Amino acid sequence: MTRPKILIGMTGSVAVYKVVSLVQALKKIADIQIIETHSAAQLANPQKLKTILKVPVHTDLFEKVQPLSLNTASGTHPLLFIPHIEFAREAQLVLIVPATANFMAKLAWGLADDLLSTACLYTRAPIWVAPSMNTNMWMNPAVIQNRTLLLKRGVHFLGPQKGHLACGDWGDGRLEDPVHIAEQARNFLESKQRWKNISVLITAGPTREPLDPVRFITNRSSGKMGWALAEAAQNKGAQVCLVSGPVALPPLPNVKIISVETARAMHQAVFKYQKKSDLIILSAAVADYRPSFYHTQKMKKNKSSKTLSLTPNPDILSDVLKRRSSHQLIVGFSAETQQLQKNARLKWNHKPCDMLIANQVGSTSHPGFDSDENEVWIFSKQAPQPVHFLKQSKTQLAIGILDWIEKTYRLSAWKKKESL
Ligand code: CTP
Repeated sequence: MTRPKILIGMTGSVAVYKVVSLVQALKKIADIQIIETHSAAQLANPQKLKTILKVPVHTDLFEKVQPLSLNTASGTHPLLFIPHIEFAREAQLVLIVPATANFMAKLAWGLADDLLSTACLYTRAPIWVAPSMNTNMWMNPAVIQNRTLLLKRGVHFLGPQKGHLACGDWGDGRLEDPVHIAEQARNFLESKQRWKNISVLITAGPTREPLDPVRFITNRSSGKMGWALAEAAQNKGAQVCLVSGPVALPPLPNVKIISVETARAMHQAVFKYQKKSDLIILSAAVADYRPSFYHTQKMKKNKSSKTLSLTPNPDILSDVLKRRSSHQLIVGFSAETQQLQKNARLKWNHKPCDMLIANQVGSTSHPGFDSDENEVWIFSKQAPQPVHFLKQSKTQLAIGILDWIEKTYRLSAWKKKESL
């Protein structure tokens, strides 16, 4: 079995020396490479680090550049291949330990002016940040804002802890204990191994039900929740198929995306992939009705009022439940504008999926749809009371939901595969 790869980024905080014990612990479970920023290299000599830890330590973007060439019909073109950047592409995890306020800012604003910041933009792996700095810096509004931005994008923070700081102050800003960082990284890699053979099918976004060539009925769903779930499942190591209605979201690497427009097209796509799926999450806001007649030409206005006749669409979740295999875990969503818990329970009675995730939509305080944040209640037979997930970014929420599924359902129970 190939060993996982972890890229460790060290930035210029006095806590750099603590990375030694972290690398020693992680070397047992993964191949490690280190990138030091120039400030970190002032504090921990890269050559010495290499000798002590026996892992590659890089500092420069253009160190050992291998010139290659690409032969095409139009001739030979020179290529730059930077091997130590390639490690960022292959890594399962990028750990920034310790992370300074300066590096957090670079990460938040997408700078790529040195090897480590370039690698962070280049990688597809989750990025974890363990900050280390003086309390006043940690509490500075600029740092708080950068942290919030990074959290929204799904960057995971480890610490900092409260305690005595190198400058003599006491407060927040102390690097998370390397033992805890190593433990969390180990859990993450083990979880990735468990999810490796899991196929996840997710629906997301609204559907569009055409009335004529230029008009349609739709709803306010942005698809952000379903896409965040797809990204989180992919990051966990699962094979993900995302059936999405029309959304304006950037593509997700390594996720099979099937774009559909209508509820009927979504219904068909879901059935095509249902059989091979282990976890099915139906988060789409499917239009319950479509116009009964499709006008092949643009409908012309006249003075009389018009009545729109609507025909019910298939209920994808109900049909998925009818065709389910015993190993499949099926998760539905419930979007409610009022009496959330009561209505969600009623819906759950009609559509008895394994888990129902209820969220309030349509109010200013709980927009749900078309928002970057969400607050949900999970109904599950596994928990006597609905489990409340506080308002947070959809990216964080998606990770939380999948963690909860993993903890609650023991994947091995619904997926009997040797590797689990
Ligand atoms: N759903 C579906 N097919 C539909 C309608 C809904 O698969 N035609 C799924 C949604 O993806 C979600 C769950 O059913 O997982 C509940 O959807 P929701 O829109 O909250 O409720 P409805 O069942 O449509 O009921 P109502 O609109 O009356 O609240």
